[in-house]
Amino acid sequence: MELADFFAIDTLSEHDEEMLIRSAMQMQQVMMLYESGIREIKTKLDILSDESRLSGKPSPIDAIKSRIKTPRSIIGKLKRRGFPISLQSMLENLNDIGGIRVICPFIEDIYTVADMLMRQDDLKLIDRKDYIENPKPNGYRSLHLILEVPIFLSDRTQPVHIELQLRTIAMDFWASLEHQLRYKSDVEVPPHVSADLKACADVIAATDEEMQRIAKELHVL
Ligand code: GTP
Ligand code: MG
Repeated sequence: MELADFFAIDTLSEHDEEMLIRSAMQMQQVMMLYESGIREIKTKLDILSDESRLSGKPSPIDAIKSRIKTPRSIIGKLKRRGFPISLQSMLENLNDIGGIRVICPFIEDIYTVADMLMRQDDLKLIDRKDYIENPKPNGYRSLHLILEVPIFLSDRTQPVHIELQLRTIAMDFWASLEHQLRYKSDVEVPPHVSADLKACADVIAATDEEMQRIAKELHVL
C-alpha cells in the first residue's frame, strides 16, 4: 500500500474504518506478546552470559540476534499451510513469529546454553531439531528449539512459542551467506553449486571441530 492510499482511508465507510482499526490493534497486541517473549528469553541469555563472565570463564554466547516476522510474511505462511487467518491461528499454528538466534564460539557452547535454558522451569520445550547431529542434506547445521514462554498479563497468562536457533560463529557464517546467495540469485541454484555449498559447510564443520579441540587443549573450554 502506498502512503497516499493510506491517507485515502477517509474514503472508507465508517464500518470498514472500524474493522481496519480493530485488526490493526489486535495485530499490535500479538506483536507485543512476541516482543515480550523475545525479551524474556534474551534476559535469561544475558544473565547466563554475565554469570560466566563474572566467574572468570569465557561466555558461551558470542552474540544474540532477534527478529519478529512481518504481518505480510505471517499471513503468507498461514495461507500456504492452509490455516485460518486469525490471531488465535497465529498463536496456535506458527512457531516462528518471534525468533532468536544465539551465536556461540564453540560447538559445545550450543549444548551448554540449550541445557541451561531447559533447566528453567518457566520454559517448556515444544520441539527440538538437532541439525548438528543430523545436518540437512544441503549442509545446514544449527540446533533449533521451539520454546513456550509464559507472558504474564494483568488478567491472564498467555503462552507464546519462540523459535531459537543456536549455532557457532562458523555455522552462522555459512547459513547467512547461503541464505543470501539463494535469496538474491535470480537463477535456480544448479546441482553442482549446491554440491559446492555443501562442501563449504563440511569444511567449516571440520574447522569448528578443530577449533574446539584447540580450545580444550588450551583449557579454554
Ligand atoms: P519453517 O522454517 O517454518 O518452514 O519450519 P521447519 O519446521 O521447516 O523448520 P526448519 O527447522 O527446517 O527451519 C527453520 C528455520 O531455520 C528457517 O526459517 C531458517 O531460518 C533456518 N534454516 C533451515 N534450513 C536452512 C538452510 O538450509 N539454510 C539456511 N540458511 N537457513 C536454514
Ligand atoms: Mg523449513
